[in-house]
Amino acid sequence: MCGIVGIISEKEVSPLLLDAIRRLEYRGYDSVGMVCIHQNKLSARKDAGKIAEVDAKLDFSSLKGAIGLAHSRWATHGGVTRANAHPHYDCKQNIALVHNGIVENYDELKKELQQRGHSFSSDTDTEVIAHLIEENEADDILDATRKALHRLEGSYAIGVISTKNADELIAARKESPLVIGIGDRENFIASDIPAILPFTKKVIFLENGEIARLTREKVEVFGLDGIPKKKTIVAIDWDAKQAEKQGYPHFMLKEIFEQPFSISETIGERMSEQDILLDKEIQGAVPNPMEIKRLIIVACGTSWHAGLIGEFMLEELAKIPTEVEYASEFRYRDPIIPDGTAVIAISQSGETADTIAALREAKKKGAKVIAVVNVEGSTIARESDSVLFTHAGPEIGVASTKAFTSQLTMLYLLTVYLAEHRGILPQDQIRNRIRDLRKIPHQVQEIVENQESIKELAELFFRHTNALYLGRGINYPIALEGALKLKEVSYLHAEGYPAAEMKHGPIALIDEKMPVVVIATKDTRTYTKVLSNIAEVKARGGIVIAIASAGDNEIKEKVDHVLYIPENSYILTPLLAAVPLQLFAYYVAVLDGKDPDKPVNLAKSVTVE
Ligand code: M6R
Repeated sequence: MCGIVGIISEKEVSPLLLDAIRRLEYRGYDSVGMVCIHQNKLSARKDAGKIAEVDAKLDFSSLKGAIGLAHSRWATHGGVTRANAHPHYDCKQNIALVHNGIVENYDELKKELQQRGHSFSSDTDTEVIAHLIEENEADDILDATRKALHRLEGSYAIGVISTKNADELIAARKESPLVIGIGDRENFIASDIPAILPFTKKVIFLENGEIARLTREKVEVFGLDGIPKKKTIVAIDWDAKQAEKQGYPHFMLKEIFEQPFSISETIGERMSEQDILLDKEIQGAVPNPMEIKRLIIVACGTSWHAGLIGEFMLEELAKIPTEVEYASEFRYRDPIIPDGTAVIAISQSGETADTIAALREAKKKGAKVIAVVNVEGSTIARESDSVLFTHAGPEIGVASTKAFTSQLTMLYLLTVYLAEHRGILPQDQIRNRIRDLRKIPHQVQEIVENQESIKELAELFFRHTNALYLGRGINYPIALEGALKLKEVSYLHAEGYPAAEMKHGPIALIDEKMPVVVIATKDTRTYTKVLSNIAEVKARGGIVIAIASAGDNEIKEKVDHVLYIPENSYILTPLLAAVPLQLFAYYVAVLDGKDPDKPVNLAKSVTVE
């Protein structure tokens, strides 16, 4: 949710901190702050507002010092005010701290600390950590922080600096992500890899309950018991350029346009002409595909929509009974997980708190977990038995686009692999399925290249206040996803429904002001039924926008507007139908003056419950 960075270097760190925190702005953007140590004093600036606005006012880069922290906030405890922006301090302002997470017992700790004479300057949960560290100020900063952390309940990723140990940066994590970057006589901490990509590609992933001391020369990691830990340095293969806009006005548009590439990257070396090659990747969770009796998919948001489509694919092609659960609900039930059940956890970030909790619940009950994840080194990737990386590259736009189509690609590969290894699909059909997927990157390219008609449509609709999205079968989740994209970035009220359910309620909403987006691609199962649903909308004066298959000229007579997508097999249409809906949401938001990369109230990675 919040983004944190810290740098210890031989040069001035404020310009680097500013660059890094800008790259994390997608995690939270209601307030921003920076602190450095200069001439043995803390020197800090912070305020409510987006980074660019606050920087224009406070000029972060003019802060002096070769060690510092920065923070971009997504408020949980305490309103969006200057006082609540990070960093937070101890009473004497010797210690400065940035935090991502929630201190659940902060109320009780705050009362206790106040009784002992500590005075607080903010309403945040975070500030208690600084005062708890202060309580052990006789110790060095590593030990003082370590002791303070024993008192905390909840989640944290923190960066701490102190004037008493001005050449050390302390970092620790529990349930909130934190990565350490290893540089040349400089070291870094950050909530996420893209923040430090311009400086280093060598990282250490901090585990829950670990604390690190960074100096310019070295990084040492300890458990909270103070025992040193050996850590592996991992080389990241992302390019810093991938995390930049590269001439696009927004990350969201760039990422929509990147999809032909990101889908190809997901396919990678995982397909030959006649085989899906997942043996090695899947072995940890599924040593024998014949033994899988049931699959449960857990995910949140857009990843959950991918899961719904995955369910359709897995049942249809691999004939495995599959259920899809909101991770946030699954974790608080007492789910029954019989023998032979494997769980698939889908997540772009790999750090979504509810998905992590669902994964742990599944493992506790004896299930093997397959992760479909984009971010290497993330918690979900590390804790799963098998990881299928989506390789979509860094996704910065808060609204997930390329990660979604990569998840669908990965789920399709997994499905065809399982269908093949369970003897469900004959070899000629496997070949056809592989050929179908090979066409997808070019077909997505065709859609984005012909975006003019989508833009024009957005011009007609950006002043509307509501929209309904309908789809059937495998495209019902695309209706949900289309509606979610529009809601997220344009703040219009949009609902996704299975088309046939419309007459059981939402039809009451339809009048001549209601745009209804219908996924009406040509297939033998639902097409004629969807045409009937369209007729029902038209009979009530609704405005119908159809996503239709190229060459379907008749549909033009039945609807108000048509966006065509290329033809492919039914099971792959979601990968194509999603794209015009992403572009539509993007242009509606932009035409209405919204910033699609920073939707209000949203954070890219939901690392709190
Ligand atoms: O990183 P994850 O895929 O686990 O994130 C799950 C959701 O928070 C995410 O998909 C969210 O719904 C996006 N903002 C959708 O655009």
